[in-house]
Amino acid sequence: MAASSAAPVTVPAKAAKPDAPVPVKVAIHTAPVPVMAAPPAASAPVTVARATPVRVQSRRSRLYRLAVVGLGLLCVLLLIAITVLWIKFNSLNLQRDQLQSSYTNLMMERDQFNASYTNLMMERDQLNASNTNLMRERDQLKTSNTNLMMERDQLKNSFNNLNLQRDQLQTSNTNLMKERDQLQTSNTNLMMKRDQLQTSNTNLMKERDQLQTSNTNLMKERDQLKSSVFTNLERQSWVFFDTSAYYISTDMKTWNESRDDCEDNGGDLVIINSKEEQEYLTRKVGSKQPWIGLTDSESENQWKWVDGSALTTAYWAEGEPNNWNGIEEDCVHMGFKENKTWNDLSCSSKRQWICERRVFH
Ligand code: BGC
Ligand code: CA
Repeated sequence: MAASSAAPVTVPAKAAKPDAPVPVKVAIHTAPVPVMAAPPAASAPVTVARATPVRVQSRRSRLYRLAVVGLGLLCVLLLIAITVLWIKFNSLNLQRDQLQSSYTNLMMERDQFNASYTNLMMERDQLNASNTNLMRERDQLKTSNTNLMMERDQLKNSFNNLNLQRDQLQTSNTNLMKERDQLQTSNTNLMMKRDQLQTSNTNLMKERDQLQTSNTNLMKERDQLKSSVFTNLERQSWVFFDTSAYYISTDMKTWNESRDDCEDNGGDLVIINSKEEQEYLTRKVGSKQPWIGLTDSESENQWKWVDGSALTTAYWAEGEPNNWNGIEEDCVHMGFKENKTWNDLSCSSKRQWICERRVFH
């Protein structure tokens, strides 16, 4: 049997595309029909040498036998060849069917590949579009990320500031809580004190009311007493000016005797505190020159009133005080000379005097 040669068969693809798959080449092994060597023609001239009849007969018989054998052999060979060819034919049919099946499968696969290619192209376009979108989104995300980083930094700063403020507020809050506690304690104490003061105030108001009643009664009594005192003093020739009552004596005594008399009557020798008092008494004494409660008997030239206070405003007559002729003159009287003013005189001199006692307080 001759060896079959492999001849590639190109399966035409549909419309070729730029990225179309490579056409599938299917090798179909064709088996050329074997050419049998032609048997020697039966009709080929056979040169038979002229021989005897038996010999010729024998020879013919032999030739026939040979021819029959040859023909038999030829028939056998033909049968074998036919059988082989039949087997080969069946084998080739089988191969053809297989190839057709394979071709059909390949075509299906090609169609599937084409469909897959189309899908892949669509997917690629979608992926391209998606990639473009993703690039855009990436850029937007980058911008957004930059903004977010800035915001994050600002928020960090803000967070740090807020932490600081929180700490300060916590400190402030702690201090305020302490102050609140102190104030609460203070408030509690103050409320207790307030309650005590309210109680005390209520008691004091009661006492005040009692005192007001008492005061009213006492004022009435005082007024009655005043009236009584005034009446008595007036009867004893006392005169009244401002807040005092004055008694200008008619008797004459030394300065000390005069003072004793004043003290016995609830007063003392007069103390002249104002110009108005000086002028009032001047009018009242007339031509008298009575003692007043001024002396320097304790210390020469340091004039003091009978209540121990120092002399501030004086109404000395001209040239006084002078310890006249070297005689000690330690006591003072008023109504001296034409201006009716003051003169120092010996305390042992006897003259009238002026008592003073407070009647209005
Ligand atoms: C008085 C003196 C006074 C004198 C003034 C005498 O009479 O005794 O005290 O100073 O007069 O002229
Ligand atoms: Ca004198």
